[in-house]
Amino acid sequence: MTDVAKLDLGDKKIDLPIITGSEGEKGLDISALRKETGYITLDNGFVNTGSCKSAITFLDGEKGILRYRGYPIEQLAEKSSFLEVSYLLKFGELPSKKDLDFFEEKITSFATLPEGITNMLDQFPKDAHPMAVMSATTAALAGFYPEFLKTPLTDVQRDRAFAQMLAQLKIIAAYFYRRSQGKEPRRSHPSLGFSKDFLNMMFFEEGKEIDDEVAKALDILFILHADHEQNCSASTVRVIGSSQANVFATISGGIDALWGPLHGGANQKVLEMLEEIQAAGGDYKKFLEKAKDKNDSFRLMGFGHRVYKNFDPRATIIKKQCDIILEKLNIQDPLLDIARGLETEARNDDYFVSRNLYPNVDFYSGIIYKALGIPTEMFTVMFVLGRLPGWLAQWKEMREDASSKIARPRQIYTGANERNYTPFSER
Ligand code: SDX
Repeated sequence: MTDVAKLDLGDKKIDLPIITGSEGEKGLDISALRKETGYITLDNGFVNTGSCKSAITFLDGEKGILRYRGYPIEQLAEKSSFLEVSYLLKFGELPSKKDLDFFEEKITSFATLPEGITNMLDQFPKDAHPMAVMSATTAALAGFYPEFLKTPLTDVQRDRAFAQMLAQLKIIAAYFYRRSQGKEPRRSHPSLGFSKDFLNMMFFEEGKEIDDEVAKALDILFILHADHEQNCSASTVRVIGSSQANVFATISGGIDALWGPLHGGANQKVLEMLEEIQAAGGDYKKFLEKAKDKNDSFRLMGFGHRVYKNFDPRATIIKKQCDIILEKLNIQDPLLDIARGLETEARNDDYFVSRNLYPNVDFYSGIIYKALGIPTEMFTVMFVLGRLPGWLAQWKEMREDASSKIARPRQIYTGANERNYTPFSER
């Protein structure tokens, strides 16, 4: 017998089925609520609302747990690679060596861009924000691959979309960066490995080799960003994909949602905030007071999270990586000292502790990107490249779910009641 919750609305009563997830999470199935009672639910920002069932990523915000297909993020960051994690997110299982080689070969086969796309990239102003370039160019790919406009896509086409976008979006990012620096773009050499190939396309200099440990640090950052269940941008991907819009438009929408400073755009804002504190003499306590002041719109960027009400396990790993990379590159970054001071001060401040505000994935990641030579404006592009397999895995999961419906929420109307049109003379 399915457990039910009894909802008594006075003149109406309804049994709401209780759903239990594989980690014991409980939910109320309200799919019959409006039909049976005329009521809907209202939940600003979907704080309490599940939009789907998913088998891809599990978070426990109270315990600081993050797992991709059941594998703890700490183990994947230490032992896996970004492409292996991409395979895991997509297929649900760790690949055999043969399967991973085949997956990587498929990505290699798309290691170029259509000429029309490179022409488009050449037209952007050199100082265009790279996220505008990523979003526009990703959507534009639909103009070059009309076979992806047919719906529904076959399994083969969905597989191809996954591999093609993993290959092409990193080329788009690096191509525009080189152009913005007045340098000749470099072609992709997938045999270098995903992250080393990207860094080589970005920073190629004759006679200089990309350091393997630097490439590994970026690969770990991509792993840490690869998926995060129903965050704002993944939910956006699901909503757009639910209308059967093509995969390029769907991912382009995810890029736009991620750009917001409350979401992935926060990693750029954190660096800018740390630089502002540094320019103001390093007095981070003054900025903490600003963040607590309700009359001040300033927020401590990189702090707080909708789900993690304890530490963000990714921030813990990234913070450790900061020390490793800065030591490896022999960099003393005063911004890291400011970040550490901010974190220590906030952890002892009741405003932050009482609201469970801790560093999130964006708080320390910018310190590493900066050390790797990534320009601040490209930090959120790094988040795009990391999150891409998660978006694509969730899009695939939704498109393959026969019960999936077009996303169309309801509302509670609070506007004018019925009234008649009046001529100018009566207004
Ligand atoms: C990401 O969802 C995901 O999984 C996202 C992500 C992923 O991998 O996809 O993890 C990536 O987006 C990380 C978050 C990056 N954003 C930032 O760092 C921006 C700064 N953080 C906040 O704006 C905020 O914490 C959010 C947006 C992350 C979460 O917002 P919520 O859950 O809607 O929380 P809220 O705004 O309701 O805040 C609750 C309280 C409020 O105070 P009160 O009204 O209770 O007095 O906490 C305060 C807020 O004012 N608060 C902050 C704060 N974050 C929340 N106060 C100061 N500084 C902050 N950063």
